[in-house]
Amino acid sequence: MTQFNLDISRGACEIVIEGGVLEHIGKWVQSIGTPPVVVICSDTTVASMYFDQVAASLQNAGVHALLHTIEPGDESKNINELTRIYDCLADARCPRDGLLLALGGGVVSDLTGFAAATWMRGIDYITCPTTLEADVDAAIGGKTAVNHTSGKNLIGAFHHARLIVVDPQCLRTLPARDISSGLAESVKHALIADSDFLDWHERLASSILAVEPATMAELVERNMRIKANVVEQDEKEHGLRAILNFGHTIGHAIESWFSYGLRHGEAVSIGMAAAAFISREEGLLAEPQLRRIRSLLQQFALPIKAPHPFDLEEVHQLTYGDKKVKAGKRLWVLLNGLGETVITDKVSDSLVREAIQLCQP
Ligand code: GLY
Repeated sequence: MTQFNLDISRGACEIVIEGGVLEHIGKWVQSIGTPPVVVICSDTTVASMYFDQVAASLQNAGVHALLHTIEPGDESKNINELTRIYDCLADARCPRDGLLLALGGGVVSDLTGFAAATWMRGIDYITCPTTLEADVDAAIGGKTAVNHTSGKNLIGAFHHARLIVVDPQCLRTLPARDISSGLAESVKHALIADSDFLDWHERLASSILAVEPATMAELVERNMRIKANVVEQDEKEHGLRAILNFGHTIGHAIESWFSYGLRHGEAVSIGMAAAAFISREEGLLAEPQLRRIRSLLQQFALPIKAPHPFDLEEVHQLTYGDKKVKAGKRLWVLLNGLGETVITDKVSDSLVREAIQLCQP
C-alpha cells in the first residue's frame, strides 16, 4: 500500500493506492469522520461493477450510503445532471457535514466534485477513480467542473477531495482504448517533469500495455506524485500549473471539432505531438526527441493525427476558445528538451496553423 498527502491550502488531501482497497473503503471513510449522510455518485456501468462491494464495506463500518447514477460518457457532464445530484442531496437532507463519494472516471469525478464544491457552499467529497485517466489526472488536483454548451469545463471550481482512494485492480476490466487514453496523460507528466519516467515508459511498455498490476501501481503513484508536486506549488493555476495543460490547446480544439467523438487522451496525444512539433520548430527540442515522443505515443496505440480530415481554420479558431487564452493571446506550453517546459504566448499563427495541418490524417 502507498499512502501520501497532497498539501493544499484547505488542509491535506490524503492519497491511498492499494490493489483491492475498494473492499475496505469503509475503513477509509471512517478515518475522516462519520458523516451523517453519504451519497455515492457513479455511472450505471461502474455502479453495476463496484457499488455492492463499496456499499457492503461502508455498511460494515456503520455507514449507510445512497446511490445516485448518471449515464456513462461526457454528455452527462452538464448542468441538468448537476441539478439531479442536488435533488438527490436535498431528498437525503444532506447537511454540511454530509459526504459525496465519486466512484468512476473523470466525468463522475468532475461532476461530483463540483456538486460537493457548491452544495451548501462546499461539503467534503472522496474520489475512488476507476479509470486510468482519472487515476493519473482527474481525481487529483481539485479541478471540478461541468461543461457549458459553448465549451468544456467552463463552469467549475477548485475543490479538493478529502481523500483519494485508488484501487489499481479496477484497471484490469478497462477496454484497451481506455488504458491508452489514460497513458496519454502519463506520457504528458513524464514529458513535462521527469525524463527518467519517460525512459521508464519505454522500458516497461509491454508490461504497461499488459496492465501488469505492480507496473500499473507504480505508474499511478509516479503520476500522482508528479501532479501533486505541481499542484502544491500552484494550486489555482496562476503560473506553474499551466504546464499540466501541455498538448491541451490544440488537443481541446480537435476534441471539440470532432464533437467529443475522440477520447480525451486521444485528443491530448494529437495535441502533444503538435506541441512537440512547435517546440522543435522553436529550437527547443531536437528532431530525435520529437521522433521519440511520436514513437512512444504510437507504441501506446495513441493517435498523432486526427481520424478524419477537419477544417483547419475552424480548429485554429477553436484554439482561441481555450481557457488558457489571456488578453486574446494563447499561452503555449512547449517542451524545452525532455522533462522540462517553457510557457510562452509568442508562437506565430502561421506556425500554429502548420502544427494543426500536421494533425490532418
Ligand atoms: N488536468 C490539468 C490540471 O489538473 O491542472
